[in-house]
Amino acid sequence: MAKPQKIIVFASGAGSNFKSICEAVKKKKLSAQIIGLISDHIGVRSLEVAREYGISAHAIERGRQSREEHEAHILNVIHKDNPDWIILAGYMRIFSKNFIDRFFDEALGVSKIINIHPSLLPAFPGKDGYLQALRYGVKVTGATVHFVSQGVDDGPIIAQRSLLIEDSDTESTLKKRGLALEHELYVESLQQLFTKPWKLSSVGIENARKRVVFENT
Ligand code: GRF
Repeated sequence: MAKPQKIIVFASGAGSNFKSICEAVKKKKLSAQIIGLISDHIGVRSLEVAREYGISAHAIERGRQSREEHEAHILNVIHKDNPDWIILAGYMRIFSKNFIDRFFDEALGVSKIINIHPSLLPAFPGKDGYLQALRYGVKVTGATVHFVSQGVDDGPIIAQRSLLIEDSDTESTLKKRGLALEHELYVESLQQLFTKPWKLSSVGIENARKRVVFENT
């Protein structure tokens, strides 16, 4: 049995992905110990979720701090907990190179920061992935779990899952189905990553980007 991974979740808002991670840990579907929640806003639902599950939470607003000062403040808070992974669940800030490098793992070749994005990347990076998909008029969208690197939503892909867009969809109906899909995908891919051997590998095409490949066990 793999040792539970120590994770700190970062969430800016509603925290439905955070809640599904809490549930999965509680039901032993995810081999992790949630050692804290960081939010960059006070008064958001994700902080209530932390309270419901008895998880220590810190609301660290940026206010007038520079990005570097804000990140230094966060690092100061999480430093002593020594997390194995940072899990972003609707955290709406871009990290500096310095912050990302702090979590770089030489052996794995990635920073141990993971994000879920509401589209099939590289389509629709940035904000409001479901709305962007509706605006574009695509028929299929989905969600992507990926490592965080310097660019916006462009680190190595861990997992993706697709979702059909119905003619009758509005932003709210699509988002509702999308979030339900995200909750499953995020927990399943984190569990795979924490418990199965994997490596970064590219497909057999010159200059292809690396993605996560799970080894057959
Ligand atoms: C999700 O759609 C996630 O993919 C994106 O932000 C949203 C967060 O939703 N990064 P919630 O706070 O987990 O409900």
